Amino acid sequence: TQSLRLGVAGLGTVGASVVRMVGRRAEALAAATGRDIRVTAVSSRDRGRDRGLDLSAVQWFDDPVELARAPDIDCVVELIGGSDGPAKAVVEAALSAGKHVVTANKALLAHHGAALARLAEGNGVALAFEASVAGGIPVIKAIREGLPGNAVSRVYGILNGTCNYILTRMEREGLTFEACLKDAQALGYAEADPTFDVEGFDTAHKLAILTSLAFGTVVDAEGVSVEGISGVQPLDLKMADELGYRIKLLGVAQLAEGGIEQRVHPTMVPKSSAIAQVMGVTNAVTVDADAVGELTLIGPGAGGEATASAVVADIADVACGLVRPGFGRPSAQLRPASRVEMQRHEGG
Ligand code: NDP
Ligand code: HSE
Repeated sequence: TQSLRLGVAGLGTVGASVVRMVGRRAEALAAATGRDIRVTAVSSRDRGRDRGLDLSAVQWFDDPVELARAPDIDCVVELIGGSDGPAKAVVEAALSAGKHVVTANKALLAHHGAALARLAEGNGVALAFEASVAGGIPVIKAIREGLPGNAVSRVYGILNGTCNYILTRMEREGLTFEACLKDAQALGYAEADPTFDVEGFDTAHKLAILTSLAFGTVVDAEGVSVEGISGVQPLDLKMADELGYRIKLLGVAQLAEGGIEQRVHPTMVPKSSAIAQVMGVTNAVTVDADAVGELTLIGPGAGGEATASAVVADIADVACGLVRPGFGRPSAQLRPASRVEMQRHEGG
């Protein structure tokens, strides 16, 4: 059997789960792909930390860029995080060295996705990023592969598990914002800098990726109008409840006059609506498309195991040569994302 040798850069919440999952699902992965998929190298900052992983047969790299360039690795799995710095250096080095890349890094893709997709295409390798949006939900696959016969008019949803977890517990248990955020961090849901979660930037990154996939545009994170949940008070949740609403942080991208409007903000949704039932770390993505109509995917939006599920799905696709180029189409065919300036209304 031909092997697929993986180098995993980053052994935190997601990276450690990926290493465990590839090990325990080795037989099933071989049966599904016809290849012997193995983690042969890893990199992290602290070599001494006990991660509950058996790394005795695995090569260790202090420098993840060295791992990315190592000749005996076929696919680099980037799980460090951050739009620049080591994560970007690792992905660029791997693609330039002709290695496939799997990443969960939405910040990196939101800012450099088009350039990285071109680099991958130029080197004839795959860039796969299922875990970058909505954790364990296979939403990238659904939009990239499931809807070419459709013209999409809108994609929206709850795209940040940390925020939905915080809003749910504040509403149900009357806990403070700070206490809920601390728990989300302890559970491994939050970003290394949780400002990205609570100020809406993480949702904006994911929305920009979804917009590119759904509308065939270049990823445009700068074009998203963003407001997070740090200003949401317990009283706001109580007032919304009394009026028959819940507050959810939504990301919305839709066709509007003059282009595609992308926005992220706390939104009052009727308690009777489907999206209001989405609680805790769960995410939901709805696509409005002309042929299929309305399609909604719901599932775990963050956490080590759920996210590793999406990363491992990408690894299997890489093993089978099934990853599409660019953002669902070759990157040269992506159109610029036209921006629509949002009118901000007092309290609106
Ligand atoms: P963590 O902070 O838990 O893990 C990051 C890992 O990167 C750590 O193991 C850290 O090393 C390592 N690292 C940091 N800097 C370097 C460096 N310079 N060289 C080598 N290793 C380095 O993050 P997560 O696992 O939560 O997230 C990883 C990625 O997945 C991010 O892009 C995140 O946005 C994304 N993601 C996360 C989800 C989640 O639920 N957590 C869900 C979906 C996507 P050390 O452990 O030694 O400090
Ligand atoms: N911090 C992110 C979230 C991780 O809470 O949704 C998943 O992308």
